[in-house]
Amino acid sequence: MRALELVDFNKMDIVELPSPLAGHGEVIVDTVATGICGSDIHGFTGHNGRRVPGQVMGHETVGRVSALGPGTESSGLQVGQPVTFNPLLACGTCASCTVEHPQHCAQRRIIGVTPDITAAFAEKTAVPAENIVPLSEEIPIAYGALIEPLAVAFHAVRRAGLRPGQKVLVIGGGPIGQSVVLAALQEGAAEVLVSEVDPHRRALCNRIGARALNPATSPVASQVQEQFGSLADVTVDAVGITATMGDALNATRIGGTVALVGMGDPELRLDAYRVSTEERQVVGSFCYNNRDFVDAAAWVNLQPKALAELISREVGLTDAAGAFAALAAGDGTPGKILVRFGSDVR
Ligand SMILES: NC(=O)c1ccc[n+]([C@@H]2O[C@H](COP(=O)([O-])OP(=O)(O)OC[C@H]3O[C@@H](n4cnc5c(N)ncnc54)[C@H](O)[C@@H]3O)[C@@H](O)[C@H]2O)c1
Ligand SMILES: [Zn+2]
Ligand SMILES: [Zn+2]
Repeated sequence: MRALELVDFNKMDIVELPSPLAGHGEVIVDTVATGICGSDIHGFTGHNGRRVPGQVMGHETVGRVSALGPGTESSGLQVGQPVTFNPLLACGTCASCTVEHPQHCAQRRIIGVTPDITAAFAEKTAVPAENIVPLSEEIPIAYGALIEPLAVAFHAVRRAGLRPGQKVLVIGGGPIGQSVVLAALQEGAAEVLVSEVDPHRRALCNRIGARALNPATSPVASQVQEQFGSLADVTVDAVGITATMGDALNATRIGGTVALVGMGDPELRLDAYRVSTEERQVVGSFCYNNRDFVDAAAWVNLQPKALAELISREVGLTDAAGAFAALAAGDGTPGKILVRFGSDVR
């Protein structure tokens, strides 16, 4: 099979690899489309140290089941069926797994992140049947590749304790911020503002039900105060740098919650008194649990209109390396780029 390998930092090549075989409890998914995630770009440039040369990345994907391994007879899965998969592999038996926090599992591995797993920037991926999430035949199949980032977003707003009727600020209007907008609205947010520096991304956020602000024009907190008539109840920082955590704490009401999902910098400076004396809660958010993933998939299966906005373009495998380079250079793509395998499959 063909795969897109990170052969060195800033260099992707199409390579020929042996096709995976379905082991016990596994199925083979033939890739239809795989999204390029911000974390793949950081892995591509070497910025975050979470990807290594020689690796085949890809964790936001959709495809069709092409083979069922031994021990999957009772899974109900069928060859040809459109599916996505939850890329988080956890032990299932530790203290974290038994309370449904697989993202805390010490044995956690993530398909597309853990370097020794050949993942979904390839024509085929071997996946445990229990991680497979079936999709409706009725939706444009590419929407399935949006489920993983939407699951990140559902988890973030749930970690923030968002309650219906609350006012939400999202900082960063990239694909994760966009997904957080949709998840917040879906979970009952009354209004959602997005702080985003890029005009194309602000325009996209305005089209999916949020109102976008430009943090460069005046302090984010005063713009939020003006738009909401109050500060935000809940803020999700989908950038994760000192400047955005500063904006998040300043623009959230006393006693409110800031969820940190962005991983822009490994170290941040915080205005400590905004947390201590004003009792704001800062919560981390990483990946998702099974419920977040399944809920995101169920919502995508309803084909909400806004999803079409999240996909900016689809490229074939031969143009994928160029798409990585363009995204790393900040080419102004407002939404997701998907690498399409469908018609390329040999
Ligand atoms: N915690 C998790 O489980 C998880 C999962 C996926 C991604 N992430 C992280 O979330 C972050 C966002 O992912 P993405 O794919 O949307 O990335 P992205 O880089 O495409 O988007 C970030 C956006 O933030 C904007 N931005 C930068 N500085 C800003 C500022 N000062 N104020 C307002 N906006 C600003 C940028 O213009 C960009 O549009 C990344 O750090 C990624 O690694 C975390
Ligand atoms: Zn991702
Ligand atoms: Zn575990």
